[in-house]
Amino acid sequence: MALVLYVSFTVRVTEWRTHFRRTMNELDSKANMRAIDSLLNYETVKYFGNERFEAGRYDESMRRWEAAAVRSQTSLSLLNVGQACIIATAITLIVWRATAGVADGSLTIGDLVLINAFMIQLYIPLNFLGVLYREIKQGLADLERMFGLLDEHREVDDGPGARALALAVEGAGPQVRFEAVEFAYQPEREILHGVDFTIAPGTTTAVVGPSGAGKSTLARLLFRFYDVTGGRITIDGQDIRDLTQQSLRAAIGIVPQDTVLFNDSLIYNIRYGRPDASEDQVVQAVRAAQLEPFIARLPAGYETTVGERGLKLSGGEKQRVAIARMLLKNPPILVLDEATSALDSRNEQAIQGALRAAAAHRTTLVIAHRLSTVVDADQILVMQDGRIVERGTHASLLAAGGVYAQMWIAQADARRRGEMPD
Ligand SMILES: Nc1ncnc2c1ncn2[C@@H]1O[C@H](COP(=O)(O)OP(=O)(O)OP(=O)(O)O)[C@@H](O)[C@H]1O
Ligand SMILES: [Mg+2]
Repeated sequence: MALVLYVSFTVRVTEWRTHFRRTMNELDSKANMRAIDSLLNYETVKYFGNERFEAGRYDESMRRWEAAAVRSQTSLSLLNVGQACIIATAITLIVWRATAGVADGSLTIGDLVLINAFMIQLYIPLNFLGVLYREIKQGLADLERMFGLLDEHREVDDGPGARALALAVEGAGPQVRFEAVEFAYQPEREILHGVDFTIAPGTTTAVVGPSGAGKSTLARLLFRFYDVTGGRITIDGQDIRDLTQQSLRAAIGIVPQDTVLFNDSLIYNIRYGRPDASEDQVVQAVRAAQLEPFIARLPAGYETTVGERGLKLSGGEKQRVAIARMLLKNPPILVLDEATSALDSRNEQAIQGALRAAAAHRTTLVIAHRLSTVVDADQILVMQDGRIVERGTHASLLAAGGVYAQMWIAQADARRRGEMPD
């Protein structure tokens, strides 16, 4: 009887405890997430003088965690007290019955000692089992999130029989095709609607258009950070979903719209493009990216640490590091997403020259707001709301007098008024 009561009590209270433990873990990771988020964004916090607000938010998370932790501890005490009570009552009853037996002569003293020894042998393992059960349940509750992570399926995975990308001409820019590409980050909001274009081998295609049109999304899809929801993307006729991600990404170099660097030395970040590059190749890339004068001025030179996410560098310096490491990677396909948007016009012109030279034999996708940087592209696509609304060369688009021509005139006006660099 006592045994059944003991087991069912232990199981019931442990279930209950697991629930508290789970809540506690959830609140703990939430509080940690908040702390990390506000520390990473410390500049934003300071810009808006919201230190108190952030501290309050963290405090609130911790308060809720505290409440859950207290409940978890209370349930542990309840479990311990309950288990001890059940065992103590059972032992008292049995020893009392045995003592009564000795008193009325139906049992000997030896029997009493025997019963007592039995009780001790039963009680100690039982208590031990109770503790083990509790610890295992708690451990499982703590590990739950990790197991959940293992079950998580990858958004993009190499299919069975994925092949390495084979270029028609080794080392030269391949043909890149977007065939009626449809894409949505979330099913309820489609971003790209039937985007269809071809970048001929070794040529440059520029994509222009308003913010949010889906330009950077094209680059992410080409990299296969996401799979298209309709249509397909091919490189030299091979659907990128049939290729290994490793070989696909090795073939593409990108200067992203927002450059994020590792909190390490400048040289580490530049070499990231190709860790086994020679000293000479690094210097060449640095020179082409117009980084040389900047590095020469630094007291620690190449060994300067760049801070978390590169926050000790100016926007333009970060961008030039991104260009240098892309040049070092030396891939057959280039993607330049606003690659020179943070640079002054003198540096921009110098780098445009280097980028043009780099793009010469490569297949290049340039995304730009400043139209003057794309006038000599072989093909210009104008994107609006996830659709290509116009396409052609600079001259033919100007002659057509559509969206592109209007954008050009507006930017030319701004240039004349000195609001925009050339
Ligand atoms: N990870 C994401 N999840 C959900 N929506 C996203 C995600 N990334 C981008 N979007 C949405 O997709 C749309 C297109 O984004 P994209 O970054 O391609 O714009 P863009 O044309 O590059 O704009 P910009 O010129 O400002 O860089 C935007 O409306 C954006 O809100
Ligand atoms: Mg963008």
